[in-house]
Amino acid sequence: MIRNILKSLYMGSVFRDLLKLCLNERSWVPFHYLVTIQALSRPAHAYCMWYAADLALRLGIKEISAIEFGVAGGNTLRILERYAKRIKKTTGISIHLIGFDTGEGLPTPEGEADLPYWFASGQYPMDESKLREVLHGSDVVIGNVNQTMESYLFSKHIPPIGAMFFDVDLFSSTRDCLTIFKQPAEQFLPRVFTYIDDAVGSHLELYGEFNGALMALDEFNKLNTRIKIHMNRNLLPQYFNRWRYNVYYAHLFDHPLYTRYIGGKEKENEQRFLRLDL
Ligand SMILES: C[S@@+](CC[C@H](N)C(=O)[O-])C[C@H]1O[C@@H](n2cnc3c(N)ncnc32)[C@H](O)[C@@H]1O
Repeated sequence: MIRNILKSLYMGSVFRDLLKLCLNERSWVPFHYLVTIQALSRPAHAYCMWYAADLALRLGIKEISAIEFGVAGGNTLRILERYAKRIKKTTGISIHLIGFDTGEGLPTPEGEADLPYWFASGQYPMDESKLREVLHGSDVVIGNVNQTMESYLFSKHIPPIGAMFFDVDLFSSTRDCLTIFKQPAEQFLPRVFTYIDDAVGSHLELYGEFNGALMALDEFNKLNTRIKIHMNRNLLPQYFNRWRYNVYYAHLFDHPLYTRYIGGKEKENEQRFLRLDL
């Protein structure tokens, strides 16, 4: 009852916005609640990392990786390091962070699918040495992903990937990032929490299935039968959630752990609710 009252109060936007003003990732509030009330500066990334760690825990996996494709200045990667620290403290799951970036901004758009009316070569460059100075343990892989990703993954044995953040803007770059799924299934969790930055844009960008990241996803799904990436269904009803159209889930049907039961106490609660009340 009290939970329901608090929930409906939270749905009222004034209360929610006030709460967000008072809280951030450094506050004492448990990280899980900060994720739930979306009080963090990168709420979608926090959501993906938290639930990837939760899935790992249910599968008995102690360490996972999270990848940011497109790092630019590195503000997001720095924030992700703080989230990883808090998630480790609560769940015990370590998150190894990796960022891929050319280091010199966007490559040249290859055609209209790369939205050349909005993106141009060299936009969003990185100050690599400055970024390396402020990071705490993340791997930053410099170069075009189509040159660096495979050799990095081959040479470095990273824990299974549980979350991926796609923010490379162009269709061609997103297509190249998605080739990561050519890696063996064990290189991932069976379901990967995925954030697509360029899924929602302004009246100038006009993202859709016929350009940019969404077109790359569409193409990927057409070409792959045993891995599918789809937009979430659980966040869509949250009308107050501004990033609900950015979260996607990748299902790796051939993953050896894909069918492992993860019901836990959530399923017990659900069953209790469905039992006949006498
Ligand atoms: C919008 S910025 C990323 C912003 C960053 N995610 C953040 O939240 O601060 C896009 C970045 O993608 C990188 N990028 C685009 N295509 C790439 C490619 N093929 N390989 C590596 N990096 C790429 C660019 O260098 C650019 O820095």
